[in-house]
Amino acid sequence: MTVSSQNPILHRGDFLREWQSIEDSSIDLVICDPPYGELRRVHEWDQKPDFSVVSWILSQLLVPTGQIAIFSSSKMLTEVELAFSTYFERRFIQVWHKPSAQVLHKDRPKPDVEFVSVFHRKGCKKALRVFNWEDIAEQGEPYSRENKNLQQTSLHTEKRAIDVNVTGLRHPSSIVYHPNRPAMSSAEKANAKHPTQKSLRHIMNLIRLLSNEGDTVLDPFMGSGTAILAAILTGRRAFGWDILEDFVAMTKERIEKKTAQGILV
Ligand SMILES: C[S@@+](CC[C@H](N)C(=O)[O-])C[C@H]1O[C@@H](n2cnc3c(N)ncnc32)[C@H](O)[C@@H]1O
Repeated sequence: MTVSSQNPILHRGDFLREWQSIEDSSIDLVICDPPYGELRRVHEWDQKPDFSVVSWILSQLLVPTGQIAIFSSSKMLTEVELAFSTYFERRFIQVWHKPSAQVLHKDRPKPDVEFVSVFHRKGCKKALRVFNWEDIAEQGEPYSRENKNLQQTSLHTEKRAIDVNVTGLRHPSSIVYHPNRPAMSSAEKANAKHPTQKSLRHIMNLIRLLSNEGDTVLDPFMGSGTAILAAILTGRRAFGWDILEDFVAMTKERIEKKTAQGILV
C-alpha cells in the first residue's frame, strides 16, 4: 500500500462548519477524540464542541451500518451518551486505563480512566454491525475443559458440558491498558508533539475491530493524526480535520516519516 494523494485526505479548518464537503452516507467508521474543554486555560484549541451538533453531523455522514468510537473523560461521559442517543444506539463502552495519571483532587480517586463509547445507527441489524474481535484477540493456549457448574444458569448462552477453545484466541475485555502520552515510548512520541496524543496501538485496535479493510474512516478532530496513521496502517481510507495548521502539518510529517521508513509498502 502507498500513501496516494487520495489517501489520506486532510483538511485544516473547523470540522463543524466544513463537514459538508464529505459526501453523505460515505463514512464507515468515525474515530472521534474531541476537545474535552478541560485544558482550555492552557490550550486555546481545547473548546468542547456541542455534542448534539456533532452527533447530528455524523448521522448525515455515516453509512447505514456505520459506527462511531468516541473518547470521553468521566466528566463528559453522560453528556456524550445523551447527545448521541438521539440518532444512535450505544453498543458498548470500553474503559481505557491510563497508567501515569496524577492525583488532581484529594476528595476523589485519581482520574486514571477514560472511556470510549461505541455507537451504531438505531435499527442497524446485529448481523450487519462489524465486530472483528479475532483481528485484535490475544493469543492464548487452546483448551478443552469440563464445565463443572452446569446447573448455574446463564442469561445468554446454554452451558455445555465441555468448553472447547480450538484457536486459543481470547475474547477482548472491556478494559484496555494503553499508555497515555506521558507513559508512551520515546519512539512513539518522537514524531508527534500533541499534548493529548493517543496510543497508536489502541486506535489501530479500534479500527480493526469496528471496520473492514478498504473502509473509510473519519477523524473530525485529528490532532497529531493518530487515527489517520492507524487507518493507513490497517488498510483503510482516511479523512481528517484539525482547526490548527500546525497539527495538520504534524500529521502529514508523521505519515511521511512512516512511509519513508518503509512501513507502508
Ligand atoms: C483531543 S485532540 C485530538 C488528539 C488526537 N487524537 C491525537 O492522537 O493526537 C483534539 C483536536 O481537535 C482540534 N479541534 C478543536 N476544535 C476543532 C474543530 N472545530 N474542528 C476541527 N478540529 C478541531 C484541536 O486542535 C485538537 O488538535
